[in-house]
Amino acid sequence: MQYRFSKNILSTPKSFIREILKFTQTPDIISFAGGLPNKVYFPVDAVREAADKVLCEHGQEALQYTTTEGYDPLREFIVTRYKNRGIEITKDEILIVSGSQQALDLSGKVFLDTGNHVVIEKPGYLGAIQAFSIFSPHFHEVSLNTDGIDISELKEAIKKYNPKFFYATPNFQNPSGLTYSLENRKSAAEVLKDTETVIIEDDPYSEIRFLGEHLPPVKKFAHNNSILLGSFSKIVAPGLRIGWACAPKQIMEKLVIAKQAADLHTNYLAQRVLCQYLYDNDIDKHIARIRAGYLAQRTAMIEAMGEYFPEDITYTQPEGGMFLWVTMPEGFSAMELLDVAVKYHVVFVPGEPFYADGRKSNSMRLNYTCSDEKTIREGIKRLSNAIKEYAAKKR
Ligand SMILES: Cc1ncc(COP(=O)(O)O)c(C=O)c1O
Repeated sequence: MQYRFSKNILSTPKSFIREILKFTQTPDIISFAGGLPNKVYFPVDAVREAADKVLCEHGQEALQYTTTEGYDPLREFIVTRYKNRGIEITKDEILIVSGSQQALDLSGKVFLDTGNHVVIEKPGYLGAIQAFSIFSPHFHEVSLNTDGIDISELKEAIKKYNPKFFYATPNFQNPSGLTYSLENRKSAAEVLKDTETVIIEDDPYSEIRFLGEHLPPVKKFAHNNSILLGSFSKIVAPGLRIGWACAPKQIMEKLVIAKQAADLHTNYLAQRVLCQYLYDNDIDKHIARIRAGYLAQRTAMIEAMGEYFPEDITYTQPEGGMFLWVTMPEGFSAMELLDVAVKYHVVFVPGEPFYADGRKSNSMRLNYTCSDEKTIREGIKRLSNAIKEYAAKKR
């Protein structure tokens, strides 16, 4: 049978990370390839207690259909958290979604027709490249520098292509670990002002800042052309599949229609359980534990790289989040290195899938949240040996 699949699905790439994860089944492999939060921080007992309470006290209600926008007390909780950080929004501007990943799909549905223009960071989050690819847009990549998005390239791309949106992850970007400075956020908002381009600001990591000062979202400076996304995946647990989109009224109306059409509403039981968990537990204390753990892991990785890596290898030093980005000299290929690294029983994600145009890359993404410090040291030592073997062949 010849299935007549849509052009859109045929042009959407498969998740490369799933391909790499098959290597992690090999015993003794050290994987920096995953993108998972560390499961030791999942509050299993507290979530079980919250679930018991919800089911005992509000069981029938929590198992019923509900509104598309989401559970009001959970929306209020999110509003209060923003307020504590100096961001004024109302509950009506919050839509609870099935993970922030769903908000990317909904944003695509709301804004994109085939062939529309989208600006994305270079490198960019591959889950976003995949989510938007299904709408067959033209991607335009804008360089990411150590202090944030390249403002002159952004200005030029917006002027030239009048894109429907600019997708950005200003905090501890996946894959690079880079963060936009305050000045860069203001400048990006200034570029967007008086244009028809919306910023989709994807922010699953800002609460996982373990060094430096918290910075306001670009939304603070670009309120009306902004969709700000958040998630409980990295601060509570990704299996709950609960995130949110925060958008001005006119955009919200369209997101709600798209969400209704997609799945009516986000899992209501999960929303109720999460909300109960948030009421009964000190989430800030919980996040502080995650931050301390990730800082120790990130520091172990950076120290090991300082010790073992050849001098011409550079790497970012993230102040939060879960990833850092390693770059080899020009002309090297991280994809080729991966074949060598597998022999040394260490894996990572090569840079290629993080570029919308699929270019060759001499960079790679390393995740530090899922291995203990001793394993991280050993993994970096192995990676360093793999790099040395590969470099010797290249020269
Ligand atoms: C930048 C970015 N956006 C979105 C997501 C998806 O998060 P969620 O679990 O909220 O769907 C991830 C997950 O790793 C991510 O790194």
